This record gives sequence, C-alpha cells and structure tokens, in this order.
Amino acid sequence: MNRIIIFTGKGGVGKTSTASAHAVKAAKQGMKTLIVSTDLAHNLSDIFMQEIKKEPTEIIENLWGLEIDPNYEMENYYGSIKEAVRKMMIFGEEKDEETYEDIVAFPGMEELFCLLKIKDIYEKNIYDLIIVDSAPTGETLSLLKFPELLSWYMEKFLPIGKVALKFLRPISKIAFKVEMPNKQAINDMEKLYIMLSQLQLLLKNREVCSIRLVTIPEKMVVEETKRNYMYLNLYNFNVDGLYINRIIPKDVNNSFFDEWKKLQKQYMDEIESVFFNIPIINIKWYEVDINGIEGLNRIVKDSLNIKNIFEVQKITVSEKFEKTKDGYKLEVYVPFGDKNALDLYETGTDISISIGNFKRNIPCPNTLKKYSISKAKFNNDYLAIYFMEKVVK
Ligand SMILES: Nc1ncnc2c1ncn2[C@@H]1O[C@H](COP(=O)(O)OP(=O)(O)OP(=O)(O)O)[C@@H](O)[C@H]1O
Ligand SMILES: [Mg+2]
Repeated sequence: MNRIIIFTGKGGVGKTSTASAHAVKAAKQGMKTLIVSTDLAHNLSDIFMQEIKKEPTEIIENLWGLEIDPNYEMENYYGSIKEAVRKMMIFGEEKDEETYEDIVAFPGMEELFCLLKIKDIYEKNIYDLIIVDSAPTGETLSLLKFPELLSWYMEKFLPIGKVALKFLRPISKIAFKVEMPNKQAINDMEKLYIMLSQLQLLLKNREVCSIRLVTIPEKMVVEETKRNYMYLNLYNFNVDGLYINRIIPKDVNNSFFDEWKKLQKQYMDEIESVFFNIPIINIKWYEVDINGIEGLNRIVKDSLNIKNIFEVQKITVSEKFEKTKDGYKLEVYVPFGDKNALDLYETGTDISISIGNFKRNIPCPNTLKKYSISKAKFNNDYLAIYFMEKVVK
C-alpha cells in the first residue's frame, strides 16, 4: 500500500533535514519516492542544492521533489473550486475582488490547496511513498484540522450532503437567512465538500498516513511537542514516530557542554514518558549544517538504520478524550502493570500515571484547566479517568 509520511515540528528543529534524509533512504532502497514541501517558505531546493520546481523534479534515481505553489495549483487545477470557496465564504453578500484576495490569504487556505494536491498525487498512484515536509507546528495543526472545520462549516450553513439542494433552495432564505448560491456554484461546492471529506479520510487513515514529530531537547520545544502530540491524538491523527534532533554527541568533551548534556538528558527522559509507545529516534548534532545528498546520508547512516522505518509503526489509539454529561473522560492505554498499584496525579497541565516502574505523562488540552479528576477506573487495558468542573468556593 502506498504511504504518506508527514514531518512536522516547531520552526527550525530540523523538519526539512529529517524528511529529506528519509526520502534519500527510501529512494536508495528502491522505493519510488516523492518529497513534497507544503511550507510556503520552501527549502527543498536549498537542502538538495538544486532547483526543485512546482511540478515533480527528479533529484536522484527514484527520488522526486516538489515545492507546491498553491496559487499555481488554484489557477491550473482548481479554477472552478476556487470560485466555490470564494462564494461559500461570502455567499449572500456583495463583495468585490479585494475581499477575495483576503480570503485566499486566510490562514490555511493556501495550504489547503497543498493538501488537495497531495491527495491528488496519492490517488494517481505514481509513488510508493510521499514524504511531506510541512510548515512549523501551529500551521500544520490548523492545516490538518482545516478540512474538518471547512466541511463542518459547509454542513452547518449549506445543507450539502444531507438533503438534495434543489428541494431546499426555495425555502433557504427563510431557513438559513442566506441567499443560496446558484446551481453551478452548488455543484462546485459539492465537489469541494466531497474532496474535503476524502482528504480527511486519507489524512486519518492510520494505515496510509503517518505523522512524525521532530523536536530538539530544549524546554520550550519539548513543551510544544507534547501539546502538539496531544492535539494530534485528540483529532485522531496517527503519530507514529518522534525524532529528537541536535543531541550533543557523547564524545564531545568540553566543560561548556557538560551542563547542556545533563539538561538534554533530562528533556529526553521527559519526552520518553510522553511518547512511551512510539519509536523515538535520536539524531546527533553535527559539526556543520546538513547539506546535499552527502550531508543527508550522514543522518541516514547514523540514525535511520531501522528496519521498516517507512511502515506504520503503530495503529492503536493511545488516548481518547470524550465529553461526558458533567465533564470529560480521558481513556489511556495502560497495557501492563499491577493495576492495584496505580498512582495518578495532576502535575500542572499534565496528568501523571505511574504503576511500579511504568510512568506516563499525558499533556491535557486547555479546556481541562477548569476541571479536576473525579474518579478513575480500569476497563481491560484502558484506564478511564473522569474529570469534573472544579468547584470555586
Ligand atoms: N543535527 C543537525 N546538526 C547540524 N545542523 C543541523 C542539524 N539539524 C538541522 N541542522 C541545520 O539547521 C538548520 C535548520 O534545519 P531544517 O531546515 O532541517 O529545519 P526546519 O525544521 O525544516 O526549519 P523551518 O521551520 O525553518 O522549515 C539547517 O541549516 C540545517 O542544516
Ligand atoms: Mg523546513
């Protein structure tokens, strides 16, 4: 089965380097590979030291690169859809071309066309592996959520997919207080809606699409990586790998770095308690920038020498949040241990679970700040933790 692996992480942590190293390894292994950049500040051309174009460009045998240009995509492939998006956002109102520019610049809109392009390439079934080098965290998350948000919006404001539009049209003004768009626009919107639904299914298909996080052992970055992981889990994306980059090599003997090494170790331990059941891959800090195939090969040789690295590493859901009648329920996968010796406590914004030597930290969403744990119980290998709103005296 063809695969998509998306690399994401905070700005400057090494996403492009890590993604590109995987691409080189896959190509050498004989997989027909495409590396795609959705970051509008593309830098595949820099790392591969050759011009990568807005259509797939051959880099080495079996490896192609693509720097998606969303404007080019919109003009060339999604002309009518673009119009539908515009209409959807402003339907019922008279707006001029200027507003349209604003809509295209709406965060996520350009990237959305990048994702649609990836879906399109995936469906053409040309490559064994599509590697995505994405924009820094926040943007990627909103990007991944975008299809969901947009289809929710469409379902809410347009009766698409529920009842045939033609029946609703005459009453739409009263029922929805908006002027319904004309037939052509409805067709386009329906097309877009279907594409967005397919895109969602593709991104959440745990056997096709993996998300791999890149981080560095530094306080702020680790915190953001934990949050990012939690939100990706919450939205049910399959995160199945973590890369810790810029680890100071053991053989560096310089007193200045001794303290840094200790700090890095501390953050790496913390990371392990959060990412306990997905593979963690360490990448050392090299003495020079990563450049060209040669530089990438160093990462391949030192860190990516792992069997089946391109396969899905895990398909189970580690944790699940659910709204209950009077709060929230968090279900955590706790596969082993003496379940009577459970220790559970809240540490700031995390939940800490320990059973003997087994320890897990689960970052919680902001919504839970106003809640505290009311009870916990085991159901097979899952621990269900219930939260109720804090009582303010
Ligand atoms: N382990 C490493 N050792 C030495 N240099 C590194 C290492 N990892 C990355 N770099 C260098 O750090 C810089 C940033 O790396 P890279 O471009 O891969 O990060 P990024 O996460 O893609 O950044 P951005 O968020 O800007 O896209 C590059 O110059 C790269 O060569
Ligand atoms: Mg980058």
